[in-house]
Amino acid sequence: MTRAPAGSSAGGTSTTDGPPTAVGARLAGSSFLAACRGEAHERVPVWFMRQAGRSLPEYRAVRGPGSILDTVRDADLATEVTLQPVRRYGVDAAILYSDIMVPVGAIGFGVDIAPGVGPVVERPFSGPADLDRVRDLDPEADTPYVQATVRQLVAELDVPLIGFAGAPFTVASYLIEGRPSRDHACTKALMLGDPALFAQLLDRLATLALTTLRAQVTAGCSAVQLFDSWAGALSPADYRRHVLPHSRRVLEGVAALGVPRIHFGVGTGELLADMAAAGADVVGVDWRVPLSAARQRVGPGRALQGNLDPAACLAPWEAVARAARDVLAEGGGRGHIFNLGHGVLPETDPATLERLVELVHAFRPGGAGHGASAARAPQPRGA
Ligand code: CP3
Repeated sequence: MTRAPAGSSAGGTSTTDGPPTAVGARLAGSSFLAACRGEAHERVPVWFMRQAGRSLPEYRAVRGPGSILDTVRDADLATEVTLQPVRRYGVDAAILYSDIMVPVGAIGFGVDIAPGVGPVVERPFSGPADLDRVRDLDPEADTPYVQATVRQLVAELDVPLIGFAGAPFTVASYLIEGRPSRDHACTKALMLGDPALFAQLLDRLATLALTTLRAQVTAGCSAVQLFDSWAGALSPADYRRHVLPHSRRVLEGVAALGVPRIHFGVGTGELLADMAAAGADVVGVDWRVPLSAARQRVGPGRALQGNLDPAACLAPWEAVARAARDVLAEGGGRGHIFNLGHGVLPETDPATLERLVELVHAFRPGGAGHGASAARAPQPRGA
């Protein structure tokens, strides 16, 4: 890891024209940023969703028993846990250690993240009177620790830092259900029963997501990921009508900052084209859809990120390697960012992820770019 002065921000990392800043110069050879933008890259970049976290002994050692929100509020600790997987695995991108519920927590909605459970909301969103509880974020006043963590990280890192936010639908689902939910029944009941109120809630959450992403990019993040983890619970028609316009407002709002935008959800096979249309440079794909099929769904000119089944990483190495090689073949090389189809499971042996990074880095992409590689990609496996 090199140490260099923190660069100015998006301006230094986002474009290939214009004078490079210290950060821009250090990231000039980034395979991750090249793949996001559809430019040539020598090797397939790799990082893992939830690469920081309980699968790492060094994480468990520093984390302590408190709420993850306490760890996020401590910029030194958040910096350290963000760096841990970069040091250990040699991944091609870091992801800011925070949580999709941090902004709503910071505006006083009353959110905690219960260990082993997930986000828990003290007084869930239940009617129009609750709209006033969802105000916009003032990043300097409400989440100064997030920007401080980003600034510390970009001074340390020689790989890009990914900022992120929860997409309006996924955050709304936690606010309405009050806790993680399998069927998202209350959320859908509100969406279908009072679409106007649902739209007002998602509009406010879109503003919140946009504000937090802008603050992260201004502080130095060189890519962003919008997590719509639970959008796959929706039919395409409901997604298009009730959700897409709000996610589009976030992604289009970020476009002006010039950093690559990754749009990800789980179980979104039927939504991939719409999620791309919402304004993504990179579409995250879970393990259910072969990447060659995903490429046909999102069309040319966009990169793909994914999609090894996180559970596959619990199998013996030979099985992991076989599954990873299948993902690489399906990805077609160029315009592919290797990742898991969802977050690293806490039971994962870090040694497996170490070997996985080596395997991905040893693979040589061919083809002429993510538009062209669609034509070369193998046919979908029975999809
Ligand atoms: O390495 C990283 O990916 C960066 C950090 C990160 C966290 N949360 C830290 C965290 C990121 C990107 C998130 C995003 C997030 N948070 C999402 C979207 C990604 C996804 O998984 O779909 C969602 C849905 C959440 C909400 C949330 N936070 C859940 C469902 C949980 C799991 C609860 C549990 O304990 O299993 C959390 C807690 C959480 N966020 C942990 C971490 C490292 C685990 C708790 C801990 O290790 O202290």
